[in-house]
Amino acid sequence: MEQVERIGISLEKDLLALFDKMIEKQGYPNRSEAVRDLIRGQLSSEQLLKPSTKAFATVTFVYNHHATKLMEKLTTLQHSHLLQIICSTHVHLDHDYCMEIIVLKGPAGKISKTADYILSQKGIKLGKISLFPLKIH
Ligand code: NI
Repeated sequence: MEQVERIGISLEKDLLALFDKMIEKQGYPNRSEAVRDLIRGQLSSEQLLKPSTKAFATVTFVYNHHATKLMEKLTTLQHSHLLQIICSTHVHLDHDYCMEIIVLKGPAGKISKTADYILSQKGIKLGKISLFPLKIH
């Protein structure tokens, strides 16, 4: 098990009350676990500011499959890109719409550019990228 150090933090009463209320709502068992997650989240964001950071991501989007050439473009992109595409999943939502989830691995900057390119294509109605650094603290 990792070595743990105890620290003391001074906070304004109101700020602590709001924090306690928030973490209770989210289901945290204690303050330590919530603070650990906050620190981890900030460290991850900091890491991802550097474009060369090794990262992985999911790019999820909903699109109209009647939109011309969208699938062709996406397939070409998945085959040709320098990024490693780990997998993709396709879900038929209804008569018109499909959802695609692509899992990518590579430098954070390239992942973001690829995601922006995908999500800006004609026919894509909603989309989101979840980007994480490969090194997790
Ligand atoms: Ni479909």
